[in-house]
Amino acid sequence: MLRHLLMAATACALVAAPSLAAAGDDLAPSGRWTAPRQGAAATPPMGWNAWNAFRTEVDEDKVMGSAQALLDTGLAQRGYVYVNLDDGWWLKRRQTDGRLEIRTAIFPSAAAQAGQDSSFRPLVDRLHGMGLKAGIYTDIGRNACSQAWDLKSPNLPEGTTQEREVGLEGHVDQDIRLFFAEWGFDYLKVDACGIADFPPGAAVVAKQGYRGREPLIIRPTPAQDHSDEMRGLYAEVGRAIAKYAHDGDHVYSICTWGRGDVRAWGDKVGNAWRTSPDINAHWSAMLRSFDSVATRPLYARPGAWNDPDMLHIGAGDFDENHLTEARSHFALWAMVNAPLLIGYDLRHAPKALLEIFGNAELIALNQDPLGDQAVLVHHEGQVQVLLKTLSGGRKAVALFNRGAQPARAKLTNEQLKIAPRTPVALRDLWTGADAPSFTDATTFDLAPHETRVFEAKGEALVREGVLLSEIPARVYVAHESGWPPPVDGFDNPVGPAGHTGGAQADYSPYRTPLRVAGKPFAHGLGVLANSRLEVRASKDFKRFAASVGVDDASKGSKATVRLAVYGDGRLLARTKPLKIGARPVAVDVPVAGVDVVELVATSDDKVAPPAIVWGDARMTR
Ligand code: GLA
Repeated sequence: MLRHLLMAATACALVAAPSLAAAGDDLAPSGRWTAPRQGAAATPPMGWNAWNAFRTEVDEDKVMGSAQALLDTGLAQRGYVYVNLDDGWWLKRRQTDGRLEIRTAIFPSAAAQAGQDSSFRPLVDRLHGMGLKAGIYTDIGRNACSQAWDLKSPNLPEGTTQEREVGLEGHVDQDIRLFFAEWGFDYLKVDACGIADFPPGAAVVAKQGYRGREPLIIRPTPAQDHSDEMRGLYAEVGRAIAKYAHDGDHVYSICTWGRGDVRAWGDKVGNAWRTSPDINAHWSAMLRSFDSVATRPLYARPGAWNDPDMLHIGAGDFDENHLTEARSHFALWAMVNAPLLIGYDLRHAPKALLEIFGNAELIALNQDPLGDQAVLVHHEGQVQVLLKTLSGGRKAVALFNRGAQPARAKLTNEQLKIAPRTPVALRDLWTGADAPSFTDATTFDLAPHETRVFEAKGEALVREGVLLSEIPARVYVAHESGWPPPVDGFDNPVGPAGHTGGAQADYSPYRTPLRVAGKPFAHGLGVLANSRLEVRASKDFKRFAASVGVDDASKGSKATVRLAVYGDGRLLARTKPLKIGARPVAVDVPVAGVDVVELVATSDDKVAPPAIVWGDARMTR
C-alpha cells in the first residue's frame, strides 16, 4: 500500500510564504492564538448563589448572613468570594424611563432614599467592604424563568405587562449600565427562559398576560434552536459588559442550559456557560450535569469554563447524611473546573459539609492556574477515570463509581499517561495518605457512589514533552463543522445516534476509541473534518508529531480529507487526500520558536464530514 508521505517543513517550498487567514475562510490558518479573553475568571469562579437554597424566596438577611458565613467559616479565604443574587430580586420595570426597580420589601437596604431610585449600591458596597464580590441575575428575553416556572412565588415582578418585562430585551445598554456602572456588580448570570418559554399562544402567556415572544430555544427539539441569533444576543450583552464594567474584573455567566449550540460559542462570548438543565438534589441530576461537561475539556481554558450548574451539596442526596455522594459531587466539580458556587444556607452549615466545601487539596485542583479540565480517559461499567493535568508537572486522577453497588476500578499507567513499566506513586487527596505505589496497573474497591482522588506521580509517557490531550486548555477549537445538528449537553450529546459531542480528547467525536484503518490510538484528539484547532505552543517545544487519518467510526463515508499542520501560519506539513481505511500517516515537524500550531482538516464533504484522528498528537522539547 502506498504510504502517504508528508512533507517535512525543512524540505519543502510550501513553507516559504506564510499563508494567513483570508477573511471569512474559517479553515485558513490564523497564524496566532485567537481564543478571546474577556473579564476575570482566570480560574473557575467560586462563591455562593441564593438559588439552590432559597429559590425566589431570597432576602437580604439570607444573602448577607451567607456572606458573613463565608468569612466566619474561612471559606472566603479559600476562594469563595462571589455572593450572587439569582431570580426574585426585581419588582418591576418603571415605564417612564425603563429603569428596573428592586423589591425593597426583601432588600431593605436598596430602598429609595429621598428623591432617588432604589439601588443595590449599598448592598454591593457592603459586600465589597467585606472583601467579597457581588453578582446579579437577569434574562436575555423579556421575562424571567420564575415568571414561567415559579408562578406561586411571592416575589414575581408586579404590575402591567410591560412593567413585568424585567429581562434584557430592548434594554441591554440600560440594564448593563445599571448593574455594573451604577450598582457596581462584578458578576452577571444571564438566563434564557425569556427566549424559550413565552411563545405567542402559550398557556402561561395568555394566563399571566405576558407579551408572547417567538422562541429561539425550541424546548422539545434542540436541533431547531436559533443558535446564531442566540449567540448574537449574548454577544451584545458581552460587549455592553465590557463597556460598563470599567475595572475589567467582571464575570459573564451564560445560562442557556447547553442549548443554542453554546458549546461552539460560549467561550467566545462569556466566561462560563451552562451545559445542562438545572441540577437538583438527586444523584441522577448530578450525573446528568456532570455528563454534560465531562467530555468537553477542549472547550474550556482560563477565562472560559464549562458550567454543569451550581453545587447542590447540603440537600437531598447530597446532605450531611450522604457524605459519600456530597464528596463525589464536589470532587467531580473540582476535576472538571466547574464554577464552585455553593447553593446552601451557610448560616446553618454542619461541620461535615464545611469540610467538603473547604477541602484545600480539592479546591487547588479546581483552581490550578493552568486551567486544564480533567479528561475522561476511561469508562467501564459504572466506573469512570478522570485525569487532570496540574501545574508543576503534577497530575490528579479521580476514580468515580456512578453506581449504587460497590465497584472495582482499575487504574493503569496508560490511563495516567505514565510510561509503561515504570512505577506510579499515589497520594489520596481526601485523606492526605500515600497509597501503595504500583507499576502498570492496580485496582481500587469503590463504595457505591464513591470518588477517590489522588495526586499521581511517575515518568511522563512522552519524555520531554506532552500529549495534546494532556493540555486541553492549550487547545482551542477555533472552527468545527456544524454537522450534525448539535444537541449539546441536553439529551444525548454524544454517541453514534448521529450527534456528536464536538472535539474530544482521547476519543472520537462519537466517543468511540480513536482508530484509523484498524489501528487504535489510546491518546490523541478526535474531531470532525472541516475543523481548525489552534494549539498554544508558546515557543516551548521543538517538534510536533502525530499519526493522522480518518477515524474508522466514520463508517460509510466516501469523503476525502486532507490534514495540514501550520506553525504560526506557515504550512509545515500536509497529507495527500485520504479516505477511510487509509493507513495512518506519520507527521513529525519542527516547531521550535512557534507560538501557535494549527491542525486543519479539510474535507470535500461539507455536509457530513468524517471524523479525523490526530493520533498520539504530541509536542516535545
Ligand atoms: C433557571 C436557571 C437556574 C435559576 C432559575 C431561576 O432555571 O437555570 O439556575 O437561575 O432559572 O428562576
